[in-house]
Amino acid sequence: MKKVRKAIIPAAGYGTRFLPATKAMPKEMIPIVDKPTIQFIVEEAIASGIEDILIITGKLKRPIEDHFDSNPELEASLRKKGKEELLELVEETTGLNLYFVRQPYPLGLGHAVLQAKAFVGDEPFVVMLGDDIMADEVPLTKQLIEGYERTHASNIAVMRVPHEETSNYGIIDPEAEVEEGLYNVRKFVEKPNPEDAPSDLAIIGRYLLVPEIFDILEKIEPGVGGEIQLTDAIDVLNKTQRVFAKEFKGERYDVGDKFGFLKTTIQYGLKHPQVKDDLKQYILDLSKELETGAIENSMEPEVHELEDNKENDE
Ligand code: G1P
Repeated sequence: MKKVRKAIIPAAGYGTRFLPATKAMPKEMIPIVDKPTIQFIVEEAIASGIEDILIITGKLKRPIEDHFDSNPELEASLRKKGKEELLELVEETTGLNLYFVRQPYPLGLGHAVLQAKAFVGDEPFVVMLGDDIMADEVPLTKQLIEGYERTHASNIAVMRVPHEETSNYGIIDPEAEVEEGLYNVRKFVEKPNPEDAPSDLAIIGRYLLVPEIFDILEKIEPGVGGEIQLTDAIDVLNKTQRVFAKEFKGERYDVGDKFGFLKTTIQYGLKHPQVKDDLKQYILDLSKELETGAIENSMEPEVHELEDNKENDE
């Protein structure tokens, strides 16, 4: 059995949910306090034993490459000033085995993954989506790799979501729970309406896939939204060889959504040594103000008049 060594991180989307911030900046570079969201994903890959990472980028995504490159002038300046801790932070993101390829047209997640065909070759690999930061004792990607080592088959991470939200996700139709939290799957369906959803178990952005998926992706017709859907290809794969769904029991932070992003920022801030005490006090004071209504009179920044944040991102 081949070892799982490679990960791909699709990062070519426009990030329309975060406009105007993402007009000229990749959404993957928006920081949670001080760390770009894509760095959390790269760290999960490395903590899971992944050796090589391919990031699928597109137009305006250069800052991601720069972030993981060295910056000799900055490093020299920090060294000269004796700022060792900051220097360490900068150096941590340098010298990793990262590779980049562009997705020339935004034709869907399946099409983005297809750009990794030559990089992956004939090895099993993981796909990690940048909108979800996962926290658990064992990193989720490592859990999937362990699942592959036991089952010798593709393992897709799923999690229960509120029934009214099924149209935001790929949803599985579970056939049987073969062991605790591991399902055989009858069908994988991309973004079904709640009335058509076969369950509340949603695909959450971590996939362990066998390389046979590429032949399927090359032939598959566009699905929901006119896009080449990874979920549809997985459904076809499941007809010729088992694809398991692994239920994730840890914490998922959806940073691809404004409210999820704010919650993650607060949770991370409450653990961050430089701000945690001040932030905790601020939240306590703010809750009192919210209770008494005093907040109504406070200064308000100008907020965009956008109503729906549930639109699918592009
Ligand atoms: C993608 C997948 C979907 C999955 C979701 C997880 O959708 O197509 O199956 O459930 O990621 O975040 P997107 O969020 O890119 O619309």
